[in-house]
Amino acid sequence: MLILLLVVARLLWRIKNTIPVALAANRLQRALAYGAHGILYILMLALPLSGWVTSSAANFPVKLFWLIPLPAIVGPDHAVKSLAAEVHEICVFITIAILLVHIGAALRHHFTLGDSLLKRMWF
Ligand code: HEM
Repeated sequence: MLILLLVVARLLWRIKNTIPVALAANRLQRALAYGAHGILYILMLALPLSGWVTSSAANFPVKLFWLIPLPAIVGPDHAVKSLAAEVHEICVFITIAILLVHIGAALRHHFTLGDSLLKRMWF
């Protein structure tokens, strides 16, 4: 749920501010970079949301920091619970795959191409 809050904050920040231009060598690389970033944002929303639906449909209360109770976003429903858990699990595997590509690309920029990409991902 913290990731959901942070990604919403990040998206609001992104709408209001400009982001650095991709350090891509050609159009294909730029398209791949933006595509991967788009998928990362979708997953950062889909993962916590599908988890929230799974818990709500299983009639399991969701709390922020084990303290602040959050509302159920769907009513108890076994079929919805099974479907949302399936979506949640698929999102986990896609996230792992995209993260590996993302980390690999960042390391390639740092160690092989020797540019500033990894540094500017930080502050
Ligand atoms: C970015 C955030 C999240 C990540 C990376 C994540 C990751 C995972 C992983 C790895 C599993 C195990 C999947 C498997 O069975 O192989 C899982 C299951 C589960 N997660 Fe999440 N989760 C996230 C957010 C949430 C949230 C916010 C909730 C609830 C509010 C949640 C509820 C659940 C539930 C109920 C299951 C068990 C599903 C089942 O019945 O199989 N998750 N999650």
